[in-house]
Amino acid sequence: GRVAVLMGGTSAEREVSLDSGRNVLEALQARGVDAFEVDGIPALVDAIRAGKVDRVFNILHGNKGGGEDGVLQGLLEALGVPFTGSRVLGSALSMDKIRTKQVWLAEGLSTPRYVRLAKGADVHAAARELGLPVIVKPSCEGSSVGVSRVLDDAALDDAVALAARYPGEMLMEQMVQGDELTVAVLASGEGYTALPSIRIVPKGEWYDYNAKYIAEDTQYLCPGLEGDDERAIGELALAAFIAADCHGWGRVDVMRDRDTGRLYLLEVNTAPGMTSHSLVPKAARQVGVSFEELCWRVLETSL
Ligand code: DAL
Ligand code: MG
Repeated sequence: GRVAVLMGGTSAEREVSLDSGRNVLEALQARGVDAFEVDGIPALVDAIRAGKVDRVFNILHGNKGGGEDGVLQGLLEALGVPFTGSRVLGSALSMDKIRTKQVWLAEGLSTPRYVRLAKGADVHAAARELGLPVIVKPSCEGSSVGVSRVLDDAALDDAVALAARYPGEMLMEQMVQGDELTVAVLASGEGYTALPSIRIVPKGEWYDYNAKYIAEDTQYLCPGLEGDDERAIGELALAAFIAADCHGWGRVDVMRDRDTGRLYLLEVNTAPGMTSHSLVPKAARQVGVSFEELCWRVLETSL
């Protein structure tokens, strides 16, 4: 049947999604899939009404018109159209970093200490409670949009003002000093498998939007850890993915404290980037799965 590759949308990650989506579309077509491009949810609804869609490969990133936040998933479930990735609950929960952390903490899974920043909160008091340095971020964005690292108190107000530009709540999180890692999770048989972790070594201070999509000098080490450490991060990522009720595929971002070696969960991405710079394709390649094969395997998970 015909596969709509859903991309673009209206979120802050629109451009990233178009890049991901065109790669996925090309790969599926190369595998002989009858796939076509659809930009955003309203256009998808039109295509469904016109009887053109048998299945959706969702590669929208971000919230609201983005389509990674559960709204699209509910719509497609109601219409009975199969789609890739997480269902309503896993998508909505994972789009919200604060609620994701609450679920993980309740399950005994480690995540950096944080303070939820309500409107008008005393952000300086929050920073004192956590201890600098901290990260300030919108709870419901992706690709590091609106995120700041705050090393001293003087930078705090600007960081909060930036995060406040994005929809939803904000959080302040203790900054884990150490390695940035990520683990792709893919359906396999009845269950899920963690692909080898990737350790990200940005040229600059951290893995921001520029280091993610623009810079050519970000280094990626895969597998990111060795032996028991690599096994532990894979197990943690699977537990985090399942605790957040995710399905199909996803990518779990993790920090590793350089002094203690302890792992801390940051978030799950339920429609991870598939750009030429993105991480899930790199981890797949490490285990001999080509980009085309990866797209096919994700498509197969559409329920
Ligand atoms: N939110 C971006 C697309 C990612 O996690 O890859
Ligand atoms: Mg993200």
